[in-house]
Amino acid sequence: MSAGDKFTKDTTAQEVAETFGDRIKGRYVVVTGTSPGGLGYETARAIATQGPKLLVLAARDQAKLDAAKADILKETPSANIATVILDLDSQAQVRKAAADIAALGDPDVLINNAAIMMNPYGKTSDGLESQFGTNYVGPWLLTALLLPSILKTPSPRVVVVSSAGHRSSDIRWDDLGFSEGKEYEKRAAYGQSKTGNILHALALSEKYGDKGLVAVSLHPGVIMTNLSRHLTQEDFSAFSAFWNEDGSPKPGLFKSIPQGAATTVTAAFDPRWEKHNGVYLVDSQIAPDLPTTGGEDLLVGGMGYILPYAKDKKAALRLWDLTNKITGENF
Ligand SMILES: NC(=O)c1ccc[n+]([C@@H]2O[C@H](COP(=O)([O-])OP(=O)(O)OC[C@H]3O[C@@H](n4cnc5c(N)ncnc54)[C@H](OP(=O)(O)O)[C@@H]3O)[C@@H](O)[C@H]2O)c1
Repeated sequence: MSAGDKFTKDTTAQEVAETFGDRIKGRYVVVTGTSPGGLGYETARAIATQGPKLLVLAARDQAKLDAAKADILKETPSANIATVILDLDSQAQVRKAAADIAALGDPDVLINNAAIMMNPYGKTSDGLESQFGTNYVGPWLLTALLLPSILKTPSPRVVVVSSAGHRSSDIRWDDLGFSEGKEYEKRAAYGQSKTGNILHALALSEKYGDKGLVAVSLHPGVIMTNLSRHLTQEDFSAFSAFWNEDGSPKPGLFKSIPQGAATTVTAAFDPRWEKHNGVYLVDSQIAPDLPTTGGEDLLVGGMGYILPYAKDKKAALRLWDLTNKITGENF
């Protein structure tokens, strides 16, 4: 029996961080998307309590970074925290952020948490559909550029925060950009980007597992955060299983922010994944496959499962090669 086997949907990030305190102490950890009120902030806050050597908060807004750092220091004055501007919308800026992060040392653990959800159609600075570019390509590039540093550390690990939303779409191999927006479906675009996140961790485990890298993806649960900022009245009606018409959450389905960040901390520090490299977690455990029978309601009932297209190793490597082309890299 491993310590993490007992974690459930109710476990908090703090409980997980305390369980793995000896694996956090003395290590350099990077968390992206750490704005107060979100899961990245709570992930960083819990990690800070366990004495990492350095904790880097990486996000696009310096005022929010400063606020997050100040809040964490209020609780843990001894924490060694640095902030780095990271804008996943721009590959040039991601390159600068990666250089800034590496200049501070070799990160032991990179937690790719930042994302946007179901925004109106738009393009990144590099001309990619914005959810694919921000949620998948940006974190892929950041990870790739940091890998040489990460791989120098004794137990290198990369976490990619995905979502049960991956069930909304496989990778649209022939039309990543929704025909320049003409066929844009914001939910499918989020799903495509989140499938990309799961395949990213799988590809990392396949390509770098023999160099000691452990890579894990996860669904944090459903949690009220600023992620829902782009949802409209129409969306709240369409997702009536989750929200009342006024946008307030229905009881039972939602986790608190401390519960929501728990699976991320488990992904980052639990030793179990050394024997299960590349897995996708839900509620701090390996997610089961979607049952092929039983008429699962994919919207609510399907949330705890992984879809077959997100477990496809060939697809993971194909997406890796495609992302090399998109970014002009050769990892
Ligand atoms: N909440 C849920 O129910 C839920 C469910 C499934 C999966 N997730 C996943 O959990 C992760 C965290 O989400 P959350 O709920 O904590 O959302 P959130 O509160 O909106 O936090 C998202 C973070 O990402 C940052 N971000 C957005 N665009 C960025 C960009 N271009 N460059 C750099 N940073 C950027 C945001 O910065 P700003 O504050 O500046 O916008 C914020 O810090 C995401 O990967 C999300 O897909 C969440």
